[in-house]
Amino acid sequence: MRPILKMYLVLSCFVGLTTVLMLFKLRNTLRQNMLDRMSRVQSVPQFEEAPHAHGDMNYSTNATETEMGKIVSLIERGWTFNHEELMKLRTKLAVIHTRDDFTLTRKNTPLHSVVPFTSDKYKRKRNVTEDLYNTLPQEPPDFQTKRFKNCSVVGSSGILSRSGCGPQIDSSEFIFRFNLPPLVKQYTGDVGKRTDLVTCNRHRLSKRLSKLDSSKDRKLFKGILNGQFPNLSYIWLFPFSVLSDVKNILSFPDILEKIGSPVKAVFSNPRYSIRSKRFWQKNGVKETLMTSGK
Ligand SMILES: *[C@@H]1O[C@H](CO)[C@@H](O)[C@H](O)[C@H]1NC(C)=O
Ligand SMILES: *[C@@H]1O[C@H](CO)[C@@H](O)[C@H](O)[C@H]1NC(C)=O
Ligand SMILES: *[C@@H]1O[C@H](CO)[C@@H](O)[C@H](O)[C@H]1NC(C)=O
Ligand SMILES: *[C@@H]1O[C@H](CO)[C@@H](O)[C@H](O)[C@H]1NC(C)=O
Ligand SMILES: *[C@@H]1O[C@H](CO)[C@@H](O)[C@H](O)[C@H]1NC(C)=O
Repeated sequence: MRPILKMYLVLSCFVGLTTVLMLFKLRNTLRQNMLDRMSRVQSVPQFEEAPHAHGDMNYSTNATETEMGKIVSLIERGWTFNHEELMKLRTKLAVIHTRDDFTLTRKNTPLHSVVPFTSDKYKRKRNVTEDLYNTLPQEPPDFQTKRFKNCSVVGSSGILSRSGCGPQIDSSEFIFRFNLPPLVKQYTGDVGKRTDLVTCNRHRLSKRLSKLDSSKDRKLFKGILNGQFPNLSYIWLFPFSVLSDVKNILSFPDILEKIGSPVKAVFSNPRYSIRSKRFWQKNGVKETLMTSGK
């Protein structure tokens, strides 16, 4: 297999493919549980505190019976794994993405080059100054180059609640989660305990964790990391989403060092996001914001 294809086994985790695979694998459990609980769906507990105004994540998961019914009937109609389509999709994606461009590295972001912002209507760019360059790793992190047999991409809506899917999720080789979800005892049976990479968006940082510039915030953060993300490898951050966040987010590796955490901060590559968004828009996905799901 060509290396470019190999790498898409990893990258495809981010295009929903794995979500589909997971759903496929878990469908019996899910279906049974969903059907069992259809009448209780209205009271699925919220997975997170109140949703915020910006709308790029929404943990309020009072899925209606109709929505659940649609999902169940989709699954019922019998998804089958289409290997040929998968290979076609990978080939198409290989044109827009390379193995190295998923996160910012010194290789893909040379000193004195410029970085665009993903959601900046003024189309400003950030110069790659020495301080920025110095925060970047030389090589891409190993989850980008390594090949896994399977992985789980676990969204933070409430759909897994009372599914009992935790052990199945935890059996995956690599586990992605979004925006530091609360992995507390009450949920782990359903969503699992392990995390390899967790994303953390700007709202999460500013709302829940403040700017981590006081030692009290940092202590709280350390507690969350140690208590809920015991063997975490990566925190995925988006420094080039809006201009006002850059400084705060780029200081993250320092903060991790200050609290003595072995977790590595990786920075999303805005060029990757921009190309992905264009690709999916061309292919009929008209959402304005790419998200792990609402
Ligand atoms: C979800 O449903 C519960 C029970 O019906 C209700 O108390 C709660 O306010 C609802 N939450 C949202 C965000 O609609
Ligand atoms: C989030 O959920 C609430 C409650 O169901 C809803 O009113 C709101 O429109 C949702 N926001 C987004 C962006 O989907
Ligand atoms: C970026 O660098 C260029 C060339 O060195 C310079 O002209 C420009 O003013 C810089 N922009 C910012 C925002 O610092
Ligand atoms: C993932 O692969 C491992 C073997 O590497 C296997 O033990 C585990 O059951 C698999 N998990 C899922 C959810 O497929
Ligand atoms: C974290 O790693 C330690 C040591 O390998 C292991 O004993 C523990 O079970 C792991 N915890 C989780 C939640 O995976």
